[in-house]
Amino acid sequence: MENSPAVLSIILFLAITFFVIPFASPSPQSSLWKGSSLSVEVDSDILVSPDESFTFGFHRIGNNAYALSIWFSNSANKTIAWTANRDHPVNGLGSSVTLRKDGALVLTDVDGTVVWSTNTSSTQADQAQLLDTGNLVIEDPQGNVLWQSFDSPTDTILPTQPITKSKKLISSMPGGSVSSGYYSFYFDNDNVMKLMYDGPQVSSIYWPNPDYNIWQNGRYNYNSSRYGVLDESGTFQSSDRLSFSASDSDMGSVIKRRLTLDYDGNLRLHSLNNSTGLWSVSWEALPNLCDVHGLCGRNGICVYNTQKPMCACPFAYEVSALSDWGEGCKPMFNISCEDSQQLRFVELKKTDFWGFDINHTSSVPLDACLELCQKDCTCVAVSYKMGSGDCYTKSALFNGRTAPDFPGSLYLKLPLNFDTSDMYVLQVHEPICNAANATEATVAAPKYVEIASSRTKWTYFYWFISAFGLIEIFFIVFGWWFASKNGTKPTSIEEGYKLIARQFKRFTYKELKKATGNFKNKLEREGSRAVYSGVLEDERVVAVEKLDDIIPNEAFWAEVSVIARINHMNLVRIWGFCSEHSHRFLVSEFMENGSLDKHLFDGGHSSAGFLGWKERFQIAVGVAKGLAYLHHECLEWVIHCDVKPENILLDSDFEPKITDFGLAKLADRGGAHSKISKVRGSRGYMAPEWALNLPITAKVDVYSYGVVLLELLMGSRASDWKMEGEDREEEQVQEEELELELLGLVRMLKGKLGGTEDSWIDDFVDARLIGQFNHRKATVMVEIAISCLEENRSNRPTMDSVAQMLIALDDESTSHGEHSYSVMYPE
Ligand SMILES: *[C@@H]1O[C@H](CO)[C@@H](O)[C@H](O)[C@H]1NC(C)=O
Ligand SMILES: *[C@@H]1O[C@H](CO)[C@@H](O)[C@H](O)[C@H]1NC(C)=O
Repeated sequence: MENSPAVLSIILFLAITFFVIPFASPSPQSSLWKGSSLSVEVDSDILVSPDESFTFGFHRIGNNAYALSIWFSNSANKTIAWTANRDHPVNGLGSSVTLRKDGALVLTDVDGTVVWSTNTSSTQADQAQLLDTGNLVIEDPQGNVLWQSFDSPTDTILPTQPITKSKKLISSMPGGSVSSGYYSFYFDNDNVMKLMYDGPQVSSIYWPNPDYNIWQNGRYNYNSSRYGVLDESGTFQSSDRLSFSASDSDMGSVIKRRLTLDYDGNLRLHSLNNSTGLWSVSWEALPNLCDVHGLCGRNGICVYNTQKPMCACPFAYEVSALSDWGEGCKPMFNISCEDSQQLRFVELKKTDFWGFDINHTSSVPLDACLELCQKDCTCVAVSYKMGSGDCYTKSALFNGRTAPDFPGSLYLKLPLNFDTSDMYVLQVHEPICNAANATEATVAAPKYVEIASSRTKWTYFYWFISAFGLIEIFFIVFGWWFASKNGTKPTSIEEGYKLIARQFKRFTYKELKKATGNFKNKLEREGSRAVYSGVLEDERVVAVEKLDDIIPNEAFWAEVSVIARINHMNLVRIWGFCSEHSHRFLVSEFMENGSLDKHLFDGGHSSAGFLGWKERFQIAVGVAKGLAYLHHECLEWVIHCDVKPENILLDSDFEPKITDFGLAKLADRGGAHSKISKVRGSRGYMAPEWALNLPITAKVDVYSYGVVLLELLMGSRASDWKMEGEDREEEQVQEEELELELLGLVRMLKGKLGGTEDSWIDDFVDARLIGQFNHRKATVMVEIAISCLEENRSNRPTMDSVAQMLIALDDESTSHGEHSYSVMYPE
């Protein structure tokens, strides 16, 4: 019996070995050994580099379409660094990658076809290993590298991965795709690294700047070694003396980086934030994306805006294919080469198209330049620079762009009888809203794979439009003038703006009449406009708003142009408009719960229903977000100018949506001379600068928002506020007095906030809430409102920061376990 402890321990040891160890989770492999494979169906069939920064395996790129890729393990959106089969996705069932006995690494599809393989058959290859650098290498037992993924980059190079004579980066298609796009980054025959667009119709080099020579671009073409590499601290250097560093290069190799030729044709260095998994751009080749060629297709113009480029069609041209702006625009006219056809030219200011010059002449007057084009049947337009008199006749229009600093104009050739009575429809598409993020977006399947019953059949659909490919509209002023019958003298200048958008419909009067049952159900809303509810043929419930007959054409189009572009959950979505003779309507989504004023000020006795604390806070946040979107996001220049409870509608969940962009004004982007002269907005909500005749900025909305915020807390009009003890008579309140009331209220609140006592907030907040509100939130909301109501507008916060403060406030209280409750108003 002396032996029993030893026997026991042996049994125990065996038990651990056989039972426990097999159940311990296997640490991920970094190698695939000869004879083994990874299967597409098994999620754990991956290789992970020893330091876990890279993963190799199957990656879903679409509906039943998979790619064999290496990605950054730590990136939030599975950022791909390399793909074996970028243009040949495999099936989600039955596909696998195997290191065969003969030494080749082979990717096979469900039916056994070899989709991709390495050239290592009949070698001693022993294992495929994923290294910490993100390089997948195939080695023999002695450790010699027989093949490596670093030798065949796709759209990305990683630190230490050289780019050489025979290697090029090829961009991916937009929309989160991995398939090959049209842009490449490579060493050209002159030893210089270039970016080229090689599209279906044309190709051209756009970087370094094609208007300058190699020397002017700071490059060097006598070193034929053609070698470039990004080092681990974020500095790229190549034999043509191209050299740049990441903006975070001072942080060295701690940061993971990649140099990617993004789908939009820009070459960017991206840095990974390890804690968030998100990328930021730490260097880019082209600060102005409109310098990239091929973005907007034939005849298309890249419009250089404040932050992002958009594609537009020139006057008398229309978009070729709505689904693909890369196809550009087609003319809406025909020019024959017969002598008898009379022509004229239309000027597109600050616009140029790069390339396709028939002829260049210097120091010629405009008349003579236009005549050159008029006589030449192959000429479609001329580019003319006023000062130098440079005249370029063009045989085709590609790579168009407008830039505020371009010192010339483009003159388009049109038949004299081209009908201009129709409004000029300028369609603008936003190819990229946020280029840096767009590449990381995982969106709709770029490829669609359909499996037929007997054998595998592939059907590919490409979505060329970008991840954020909203068709947006935008309007520009194009001046145009006629050449007279004799062809040369300008006779008149007209400017016009018109627009339309996809998904933004022009309704006929008949359609609206039908939808609203002959304008039967009028909604109760304040303001000058009648609003009817209706149901469209596709069963969407809509609100149909009648616009003033007397609104001048220009104002109508200005309004339509603003609202058509708007797409945010806190802004009322406009589905379309109608303009037939004097009938003008806007068609928008229907908001079940009507406008905020009904809920807030009707004493809770109306059928509208009473708002609890939770709803009020939600409304405060939502309105702030909506305004922040208008002011700061994709539409930087929109100012609402009339923020008030009447213009805040509530949906079935009491989510607020801002409406009535009737007064919205495209802010002058230069900022220097605002053209808003007439006072707009509503009494009691107007910022002092209206009265002071100062330029109007987005800060007028911040002011009005401050008033609304106070009213959400008080449950009554801020302008109805009375000083304690003051007994105001019912009298006609003058505008100045309204302002004084507001000033008094602000002064009182400032005093209370500065004081030590904090019970005042109970008196201030709507008594109908019977104390059911969050004190801390309410106090901070008062503070925010007060800062929004600063007399000096530069002291007011931006809507963006207001929204952030409120969101932070909400997070803080939820993490402290605040209950959400709603209050029923006692009958
Ligand atoms: C050519 O480029 C290579 C790689 O960048 C570099 O090592 C070499 O010194 C260069 N030669 C000359 C003559 O500049
Ligand atoms: C990563 O992101 C977090 C959160 O946005 C930020 O606080 C931090 O500074 C970032 N780190 C780096 C290295 O940029």
